[in-house]
Amino acid sequence: MRIMDLSADRPDLLEQAAQLLVEGFREHWPDAWPEIEAAREEVSECLDPEMICRGAVDDAGLLLGWIGGRPEYDGNVWELHPMVVRSDHRRQGVGRALIADLESQVRARGGLTIMLGTDDVDESTTLGGADLYTDLWEQIRLIRNLKDHPYEFYQRCGYTIIGVMPDANGRGKPDIYMAKRL
Ligand SMILES: CC(C)(COP(=O)(O)OP(=O)(O)OC[C@H]1O[C@@H](n2cnc3c(N)ncnc32)[C@H](O)[C@@H]1OP(=O)(O)O)[C@@H](O)C(=O)NCCC(=O)NCCS
Repeated sequence: MRIMDLSADRPDLLEQAAQLLVEGFREHWPDAWPEIEAAREEVSECLDPEMICRGAVDDAGLLLGWIGGRPEYDGNVWELHPMVVRSDHRRQGVGRALIADLESQVRARGGLTIMLGTDDVDESTTLGGADLYTDLWEQIRLIRNLKDHPYEFYQRCGYTIIGVMPDANGRGKPDIYMAKRL
């Protein structure tokens, strides 16, 4: 597996990237990219020269996963978005490798922090469906993973929960904000 820039000169990889968004987000976030057209648009936005767009590719040219990054706060903070690994290649270190690659790319551009938002729209964590205005920080401290939510993957990669946006996706469907200092 090697990690490389995704760019317009590899339309085969870009099409796989769009397909991965549709397939990879269907389970927890069916509204994210329900159709391939919306996913293609997302991929093409990630090709903007100021963004980072990297893919993990195997020897046969199969895209195993990909990751995007966009600068915020004058480039001090980069938002990680999106992130997906092919379902039959999960839990094999591909996601961790993509994160490590993004971190070195951001570091090389002078970034200090990577942040991300990871939505809970289906009560996959104890923050979903809860009233987050009551003892918010205690609820964050005691968060548990109920249905394979990826916040724990990010924690494994060194990311910390830095807050939430309650009701970001409708009542009881928060966005969980995470970040890591580089
Ligand atoms: C989340 C995702 C990117 C993880 O990729 P991956 O290649 O399976 O992750 P890795 O194999 O590198 O896992 C790194 C560590 O996180 C753990 N991990 C991975 N996914 C996890 C999950 N859903 N819940 C808890 N832990 C998880 C792994 O067990 C591993 O633990 P370790 O420290 O013991 O080695 C992948 O599951 C995916 O694409 N999911 C669907 C799309 C998605 O959720 N994207 C993120 C939206 S914010």
